[in-house]
Amino acid sequence: MAVLLWLLQVEAASLNMTNGEFVYICDEPLRNSRAYGDIQWQRPGEDAPNQLAAREAFRSLLVVQTYESTDFSLSNKSEELGRRFRVRSKELYNVTLTAADQGLPIILASYTNVFMFAQVLNETLATYGEARLRDGKWLSERFLNRAFISPGGLSDVYVNENGFRQAPQSIAHFEGENSTREV
Ligand SMILES: *[C@@H]1O[C@H](CO)[C@@H](O)[C@H](O)[C@H]1NC(C)=O
Ligand SMILES: *[C@@H]1O[C@H](CO)[C@@H](O)[C@H](O)[C@H]1NC(C)=O
Ligand SMILES: *[C@@H]1O[C@H](CO)[C@@H](O)[C@H](O)[C@H]1NC(C)=O
Ligand SMILES: *[C@@H]1O[C@H](CO)[C@@H](O)[C@H](O)[C@H]1NC(C)=O
Repeated sequence: MAVLLWLLQVEAASLNMTNGEFVYICDEPLRNSRAYGDIQWQRPGEDAPNQLAAREAFRSLLVVQTYESTDFSLSNKSEELGRRFRVRSKELYNVTLTAADQGLPIILASYTNVFMFAQVLNETLATYGEARLRDGKWLSERFLNRAFISPGGLSDVYVNENGFRQAPQSIAHFEGENSTREV
């Protein structure tokens, strides 16, 4: 994906379509360099004029991405969790993963799903007793229209009144002398 995007931006530059009149939008559902490549204007091995064109052209690009907290202690916690998952996948399943191909946001999302379910069960048990735990319809309604704040704030989610889980998104753009990616 990153390669195609790069070629598109260079092509757009050659057609004089990166002069500020056009905006390009790219969806990056999660940062995973193995699956999508690295979205950036630098491409080692390309010749200098194309690199320069790409650097300018990337300023017309917006990237819609999963919101990742910039809070250091939170990102450290999620990296720590990711590291523990990698150790376990090696120990239990003999699967070797690197941080780059792990897909941490998906793992955090699954982690939060289990947490949400546990929270609803625990509340129900404490407030209404065991009989309610067998009432699936009633339980499913407990998920609607509420926010779940996960342990340590790792991956908070909101579930709307129709049961859709809403993940926060952010928009990144490339700015400054060196077109660096900023949220
Ligand atoms: C990140 O978290 C780990 C484990 O919780 C901790 O040992 C480490 O000191 C933290 N790193 C920083 C720089 O705070
Ligand atoms: C673990 O995977 C490696 C590489 O696929 C394989 O050579 C090895 O036999 C596996 N080990 C076990 C205990 O299954
Ligand atoms: C489960 O519910 C009890 C009673 O409300 C509460 O004290 C406890 O902290 C809850 N546990 C978790 C993990 O939320
Ligand atoms: C841009 O990159 C050059 C070369 O790496 C560096 O010297 C310069 O400080 C950078 N400019 C900014 C604004 O980061």
